[in-house]
Amino acid sequence: MATRTRIFSFVFMMMSFTVLLGCCCSARIYKVGDSEGWTAKDDVYYAWAETDHKEFHVGDSLIFEYDPIINDVTQVSGSLEYELCDYSSPQAVYNTGHDIVTLTEPGFHYFITSNQTQCVLGQKLDVLVIHDPSRPVPPPPPSKILPVGKTYKVGDSEGWKVYDSDFYNKWSEGKQYQVGDTLLFEYANEVNYVYEIIGDLEFITCDPTSPVAVHKTGHDLVRLTEPGVHYFITSQSGYCEAGLKLRVVVGPLAKAVSNPNFPKKMDLSAMERLNNWLQTFKSHH
Ligand SMILES: *[C@@H]1O[C@H](CO)[C@@H](O)[C@H](O)[C@H]1NC(C)=O
Repeated sequence: MATRTRIFSFVFMMMSFTVLLGCCCSARIYKVGDSEGWTAKDDVYYAWAETDHKEFHVGDSLIFEYDPIINDVTQVSGSLEYELCDYSSPQAVYNTGHDIVTLTEPGFHYFITSNQTQCVLGQKLDVLVIHDPSRPVPPPPPSKILPVGKTYKVGDSEGWKVYDSDFYNKWSEGKQYQVGDTLLFEYANEVNYVYEIIGDLEFITCDPTSPVAVHKTGHDLVRLTEPGVHYFITSQSGYCEAGLKLRVVVGPLAKAVSNPNFPKKMDLSAMERLNNWLQTFKSHH
């Protein structure tokens, strides 16, 4: 009886533990600026990040909501760029007006708008992301887990500027992209921004109205972090129709890459041992 009670209380404890884990350790989503959204207001983001003792963890996400006609979300790499509202060498640019940015790395993250007026008025946010090992990280930071893949320079020596309906098709043909590979888009800055879009239809019709990512440094490294079809078009209207667009099909991680050889070798040697044993068995009879 006593044992049974103990087992029951143990099971009960485990269940509550699971519930607790489920409730408190999952990644959080923060809407930047709460109901105000992503807008210019003196020090509003400083206050926003401070209130309620917000703690940003690896795996949490920020949602930026704003009018994409006058703003964007430009992630910059350092506090200097942040202070000076310098958006000339961004790490990433989001401009859908409803951007979800997952914080995949610990450390400081700086977000500004490329609209100078607004940025100077305080439309900028810095968050310190901490990595708490006791909290499971839902999507593991891709850059850490993914193997270093190949880097493909789009269009080779021609870069990202050829207006020929078949050029990028041909360029892409026969290449086997894998998760972890990187595309490098090179072009004269401010001419052919790279819009990453979703959907075959948008790709066929060259519809740039709802990009999921915008790259505009002229030397953009785009990591392929998800398997599936990825679509890239130029921001220049007319040029996409003329062929400045790229579709790549990314395969999943090869098994050999995700599991190092270790277990395979074990299997082989087990097989070998069995074979050897069979051999001895045969020779003895
Ligand atoms: C910057 O924001 C202001 C509103 O404060 C807007 O009037 C202006 O058009 C924006 N500039 C750009 C380049 O979008």
